[in-house]
Amino acid sequence: MKNLLEAQNLKAYYRLVGGTQIKAVDGVTLELRPNEVLGIAGESGCGKSTLAAVVSLTHNPPLTVIDGQVAANGFDLLTLPKEQARREIKGRYISVVPQGAMNALNPTQRIRNFAIDMLREHQPEITKQDAVDLARTRLQELSLPERVLTSYPHELSGGMKQRTVIVLSTLLNPKVLIADEPTSALDVSSQKAVIRLLMTLLDEQIITSVAFITHELPLLRQVADRIAIMYAGKLVEVGTMEEIIFEPQHPYTRALMGSMLVPERHVRERRIEGIPGVPPDLKNPPAGCRFHPRCADRIEWCLQEEPPPKTVGDRTTWCWLMH
Ligand SMILES: Nc1ncnc2c1ncn2[C@@H]1O[C@H](COP(=O)(O)OP(=O)(O)OP(=O)(O)O)[C@@H](O)[C@H]1O
Ligand code: SF4
Ligand SMILES: [Mg+2]
Repeated sequence: MKNLLEAQNLKAYYRLVGGTQIKAVDGVTLELRPNEVLGIAGESGCGKSTLAAVVSLTHNPPLTVIDGQVAANGFDLLTLPKEQARREIKGRYISVVPQGAMNALNPTQRIRNFAIDMLREHQPEITKQDAVDLARTRLQELSLPERVLTSYPHELSGGMKQRTVIVLSTLLNPKVLIADEPTSALDVSSQKAVIRLLMTLLDEQIITSVAFITHELPLLRQVADRIAIMYAGKLVEVGTMEEIIFEPQHPYTRALMGSMLVPERHVRERRIEGIPGVPPDLKNPPAGCRFHPRCADRIEWCLQEEPPPKTVGDRTTWCWLMH
């Protein structure tokens, strides 16, 4: 089976008044394969949510696609007419749970209305009753209490709200689920429940693959098949979970692993100091390798030229040291 979703040299900038551009996604090439959990990680502001918005066609101005392609289900999504994308792709082929979605639920509406609106957006002919019945059945199948449908958002715990949003976002059995920080701000047991739900959706073949965006690398260690690391709008390293967590090659990935609390002793022992410096301003990112101002391994060349990708097996690294 071919890739479910592919971004090719994708560039998406926030174009602000006065001509300023924030280069939030700047030349990303990445695929989501069938039957995988792809983790996407990197420091705050590196462009993870921007990438998620563009590949799920949920982006709005000032975010503008500057270049590149997004391919899915035989279509070039960025040139697909809006109506066709709404009918054939959004919610049905790709569904996204945006960052903070559980806090964006309308506080004056019961959850059942969210389910109705969500379904009707992609399937306008469905009756309200059928939409609610579909949501109820799916909640039961996934062992969530049916009472959530008649609840208001504030009546549910954060974990229950997040799981409900995920269940309702996947009612149309999309092949791809993009979950942007679905576990952040949740306690450990609620995080586990969200992870279990994602795994059940995959096991039951309700969805085929997940792109899981998170800051929490220990969680990716538990669930990801592959991990993509972003830095300042670009990918720096993509590989299998084992490669990225246990044998990171790119200096940024190594620093990121070192700055995370990983429970395994052999990983902790390799721990290096926290990452010095701050991520660059994406209005005017550094020339050459964007990580060079913070990189202890940089060579003269890193300041001049952007490192091209180097692929060995399943791993691709963007660093001059690998060439
Ligand atoms: N609506 C917006 N207008 C202008 N700039 C924006 C907007 N949204 C995001 N940005 C900028 O784009 C860059 C990438 O942001 P993005 O939200 O994609 O990062 P992120 O990796 O998801 O961060 P986080 O981990 O905090 O969620 C940042 O520099 C951010 O300040
Ligand atoms: S290309 Fe150079 S500056 Fe960038 S991560 Fe590699 S060694 Fe460091
Ligand atoms: Mg984000």
